[in-house]
Amino acid sequence: MATVRGGLRTVSWASRLLVPRRPLATCLSRRNGGQFFVVRPRCYATASSAESFKKPYYVTTPIFYVNAAPHVGHFYTMVIGDILKRWQVLLGHTDAQLLTGTDEHGMKIQQAALAAGMDTQAFCDMNCRTFQELAKAANLSHDHFIRTTDAAHKEAVQYFWEMLSHRGYIYTDKHEGWYSVSDETFYPQSQVQMALDPSTGRKRMVSVETGKEVEWSSETNYHFRLSAFKDRLLKFYEENGSWIKPNPYMADVVKSVSSGLQDLSISRPVERLTWGIRVPGDDTQTIYVWLDALINYLTKAGYPFPPGHENKHGWPADVHVVGKDIVRFHCVYWPAFLMALDLPLPRNVLTHGHWTMNREKMSKSTGNVVNPFFAIDRFGVDTMRFFLAYQGALAGDADYDNEYIIRDYKKMLQWGIGNLMHRTMGCAKWNLRPFVAAAAIDELPPATALDEEHQSMLEQSPTKVAEHMENLNPRAALREIMTIIEKTNKYFHAAEPWSAPAESQRIIYNVSESLRISGILLQPFMPSKSQELLDILRVDTSDVSKRSFSASKFGSDLDYGDKVKRKVLFPPLVIEE
Ligand code: ME8
Ligand code: MG
Repeated sequence: MATVRGGLRTVSWASRLLVPRRPLATCLSRRNGGQFFVVRPRCYATASSAESFKKPYYVTTPIFYVNAAPHVGHFYTMVIGDILKRWQVLLGHTDAQLLTGTDEHGMKIQQAALAAGMDTQAFCDMNCRTFQELAKAANLSHDHFIRTTDAAHKEAVQYFWEMLSHRGYIYTDKHEGWYSVSDETFYPQSQVQMALDPSTGRKRMVSVETGKEVEWSSETNYHFRLSAFKDRLLKFYEENGSWIKPNPYMADVVKSVSSGLQDLSISRPVERLTWGIRVPGDDTQTIYVWLDALINYLTKAGYPFPPGHENKHGWPADVHVVGKDIVRFHCVYWPAFLMALDLPLPRNVLTHGHWTMNREKMSKSTGNVVNPFFAIDRFGVDTMRFFLAYQGALAGDADYDNEYIIRDYKKMLQWGIGNLMHRTMGCAKWNLRPFVAAAAIDELPPATALDEEHQSMLEQSPTKVAEHMENLNPRAALREIMTIIEKTNKYFHAAEPWSAPAESQRIIYNVSESLRISGILLQPFMPSKSQELLDILRVDTSDVSKRSFSASKFGSDLDYGDKVKRKVLFPPLVIEE
């Protein structure tokens, strides 16, 4: 084992074996007093050299294991990432980037391919396709789909490893402990327990946290000096108190890091794990799947960065969207790896809770899953996106049931939006133009207290929605939009424009504005239905600004409404049980 001084190591056999594939020597600086061996790769290390350059907004989803087909949980994460990206586009940041993809290495995939009796790469290709199809079916606006078996990714990972090694953060040691293949995680003795497997009655060791089976492992492998980052991590969390959203997850991470950090095993002997990226210069070891996987976010941002291109493709990510099951990897290991190379940290990690079935986490390995393709076929992609964003929990968990989808569809879409449209159009005799035109020349009848109250709500809502999105809370943003619909229905009902449409021009105009504003704000959530809604209202398509966030200002579009299209936006659901 390497000797440790001052948090850094003396030369280990690992670095002696290491053969850099790039000419590192030209950018090394050494302070080697016999005890210290510090190498800093200044050439590629970051610190933005182009401050004035505005980088693209960059959102990521986790990359999903290809051990089995995707389920509604993966669909949900994709949708949240997509909403965040589409929101930026709505704000006018048309170069916003969304990255999704698949995690294809590691023991879990190796074993799943073996069990399927397939060649591992062919198995990955097959299952990766299903995730790509899901991204398409979900109407994801992703700009990249990464696979960790891509050549560019392998290069990025090996380069990252070399940098960690040269900076003295990797050493070899004997490792003994428990490993869960399902979680792809090492657990110390304190985090495992004996439990009865209900299906077989067999006793087995499981992780306390996840309940997944663990196996004993004793081997020599490479370690990352994670413990050296405890103070830096805690300082970072303290200075960036809302880095992890929502807040309760932040508190958990701080608590866990405060209680201590152990160094991390970051490779496995090749005879145990062949399916992965080799440790540079050491063919007897395969890189730990989580180190490999996390680097995907950098790969697509152009890492290793040529000088001057550190931010060109979006790094640092503005937000990593993750499920609460992988918070530790993203909020402890990942920032430590990045700190080790002086790379900028992602700006936010948005964590969400789990979809459960009968209160148990929906999971590929447990098998209690809902097939997202069936759900999309049955209810339509926008209904599903709406339901997931509206009911999906960020801070807690949410239980999935078709009954809830049907209930929400009827109440909020069919009745809430659909019926409001139908009633408004009926009242306006299928032509909103006279009402919008009257507003344009300021000839609407004077506003009543009821009208004023409604207008003021409409003036404030887009800002509230934007604040929720800024705060990475799409669920609250969607709820705010649906409040517009709910309040408009009440306003319509109370104001009774149908009794005298000619005198009720202002009411009909205000209701039309509600629909137009909601339609604009709904675009990131329900991309197709919202377009249809705006098409029905005849909001101009030739001028993109008419459908952008700035157009959600009350009274900002005076050109729409000419001979609206007759169309049922949310038809009755055909339910075959
Ligand atoms: O963890 N509810 O991949 P994975 C909500 N490859 N979201 C869920 C969910 C559920 N029941 N189940 C899964 C991995 N998810 C790693 C990630 S990233 C560098 C590597 C979503 O296939 C959620 O986002 O197990 C969760 O974090 C992710 O899928 C895990 O997918
Ligand atoms: Mg998982």
